[in-house]
Amino acid sequence: MNLDGQRVLITGGSSGLGQRLVVVFCELGARVAFNYASNEAGAAETERAARAFSGDVRAFKQSVLDVAGLRASIGTLEAEWGGIDVLVNNAGISQALPVALLEEEDWDRVFDVNVKGAYLTTRAVLKGMIRRRGGRILNIGSLAGVRLIEAPVHYAASKAAIKGLTESLAKEVGRYGITVNSLAPGLLEGGVAAGLPDYRLHAYLQHCPLGRLGTFDEVARLAAFMVSDANRYMTGFTLVADGGL
Ligand SMILES: NC(=O)c1ccc[n+]([C@@H]2O[C@H](COP(=O)([O-])OP(=O)(O)OC[C@H]3O[C@@H](n4cnc5c(N)ncnc54)[C@H](OP(=O)(O)O)[C@@H]3O)[C@@H](O)[C@H]2O)c1
Repeated sequence: MNLDGQRVLITGGSSGLGQRLVVVFCELGARVAFNYASNEAGAAETERAARAFSGDVRAFKQSVLDVAGLRASIGTLEAEWGGIDVLVNNAGISQALPVALLEEEDWDRVFDVNVKGAYLTTRAVLKGMIRRRGGRILNIGSLAGVRLIEAPVHYAASKAAIKGLTESLAKEVGRYGITVNSLAPGLLEGGVAAGLPDYRLHAYLQHCPLGRLGTFDEVARLAAFMVSDANRYMTGFTLVADGGL
């Protein structure tokens, strides 16, 4: 498996899974651009680590909700690279709150970043993919969106929406040779899972056949396979990587 010459955009690359996705994709031969909202030190660390493998890594400090900014940065990439082959919608947020304490603004913020951000970024990249009659879109979902596990309801609902988005978009754009899939990890070592109460970690580990959390590297390498030419006939699918839960 390799990503030689692939032109890739990854959202949310300044920490956690997104950071690892950028580095692993560069290691496998891709040219990678990523965006992030605020963590400049994290973005600089991503660039530093990725440059060990690739001379073409670009960072945009830009929210996935910034429509004009997305248009500009994707326009720049299209002009300089000649197109974008792969989009990974990874940017996501969560909050460990019981539903009774959820404010309407909390709900909106999580849905805005996790769902609307994926829609806006996809819309901006899709036009070029349709013109070129090909592309790969990978949406990072979550086990919380496909199975009954204890998770904040707004987060779980937003990740279930990602599954629906993946399926309907796959149906719509398959005719252009574009595949759309989702990768739904279980609990990983850090990122949005950081700060979970001990009892929740314990419950997860108790039921997980592999008896451990997943790593960003494991999920990033699976993501690379899913968008690579080794995986050409899968679309509309949500692949769960959860240690067997
Ligand atoms: N960690 C887990 O256990 C786990 C499990 C299942 C699924 N996931 C999914 O994996 C994805 C990555 O999560 P993670 O655990 O790596 O979390 P993380 O370490 O908090 O990283 C989230 C990334 O998203 C970026 N981001 C947040 N809001 C953004 C916005 N408005 N525009 C652009 N970028 C934005 C962050 O940038 P800034 O920091 O610069 O704001 C950061 O780079 C998410 O979709 C999450 O739901 C994670």
